[in-house]
Amino acid sequence: MKPLLLHNIGLLATPQGFAARCGSAQGEILKVKNAWLKTDDRGVITEIGQGDCPEVQPGEYYVLDADGRLVTPGLIDAHTHLIFGGWRQNEFGLKLHGATYLEILAAGGGILSTVRSTRAASAEELKEQASGALHEMITYGVTTCEAKSGYGLDRETELKQLRVIRELNREWPIELVPTYLGAHAVPEEFKEDRNAYIRLLTEVWLPEIAREGLAEFCDVFCEKGVFTAEESRRILEAGLANGLLPKIHADEIEAIGGTELTADLKAVSAEHLIVCQDSGIEAMAKGGTVACLLPMTSFYLGATYAPARKMIDAGVPVAVASDFNPGSCPGLNLQLAMTVACLKYRLTPEEILTAVTLNAAAAIRRADRLGSIEPGKQADLVIWKTDDLDYIPYRLGSNLAKVVIKKGEIIRVN
Ligand code: NIG
Ligand code: FE
Repeated sequence: MKPLLLHNIGLLATPQGFAARCGSAQGEILKVKNAWLKTDDRGVITEIGQGDCPEVQPGEYYVLDADGRLVTPGLIDAHTHLIFGGWRQNEFGLKLHGATYLEILAAGGGILSTVRSTRAASAEELKEQASGALHEMITYGVTTCEAKSGYGLDRETELKQLRVIRELNREWPIELVPTYLGAHAVPEEFKEDRNAYIRLLTEVWLPEIAREGLAEFCDVFCEKGVFTAEESRRILEAGLANGLLPKIHADEIEAIGGTELTADLKAVSAEHLIVCQDSGIEAMAKGGTVACLLPMTSFYLGATYAPARKMIDAGVPVAVASDFNPGSCPGLNLQLAMTVACLKYRLTPEEILTAVTLNAAAAIRRADRLGSIEPGKQADLVIWKTDDLDYIPYRLGSNLAKVVIKKGEIIRVN
């Protein structure tokens, strides 16, 4: 491919570095007015400069005029449940009449109802549904997306989900990062023998998934009525033994000790953290864990909001993601998540930019390659319909992405 020369950038705004940014560094954003950048022929950034467009040989570069607009790194959605069969609008009425998330789950609805429809769906049907979501994500400026399994809870369906992720990753320009979430719930057929389920998951399925190279991470829903902290530890240790790095859904509804595991396990990320205690924050700081916060889920569940400021003060890097799924967050607009994060977590526009780029890259172990605009990083970029960073979280719910670039190539123009 031709290298890219992007010039006439009104404002280039990016976090910097090849690892997560924490504490006050989370809000340190490089801002260059009237900038340009060049890539090589693999779509890797080679040079950034300020001022007039540099002279190049005719035909040497694909030359793109940013029209004086804001350019940031491509957005990274570090937590999604992308692959599922069917929606759950039937639960909406129940919610409005006061049923809680855990009550719906305990009655065989919630995750377990999506498990039934995901088992019934063909791989083609799952792909088609997920493709719709990917298309929408790209229009919002998302260039990389983590995707979890966890709506199969049996060997066949979990493999089906993970293979669909692999195929979509090959077919779509967005990069997908696969996570095995077999421990999303105990399936109905194992209700009376949860230990047998955990044994099967840890001793048979995890090794098979690892052998096929179908997942990079292992995740657990550590929650009251789902998996205990002790069970979560067992599952994540089995993941580690098979080369899958630990992530954990913790403190979403009740604090039962999940986040506290991150120190020992050196978990890559802990996610949700709505009711995270000080002990959990300390553990993440010790474990070098990224706190991946999901503000739209708090909004959708009518819950409180994770103590993001406390985390930043304690030196825990904060990432923000969508949690796109058919239950607790049937939305994937990461720009909207940025707005909610600023308003409810009190993050600054600079901190939220880091949260959806470099820290999100760290939450999926890709900060060496993604998440910032600097030489050596992949040219995943968004050209925005504004020249001002504050404008993105300020506007509520509109799509402000103008041009989306992946590996130096345009993948979407809005
Ligand atoms: O992250 N918390 C667990 N899993 C999802 C919800 C899944 C569902 O309700 O289908 C979440 O919120
Ligand atoms: Fe989730």
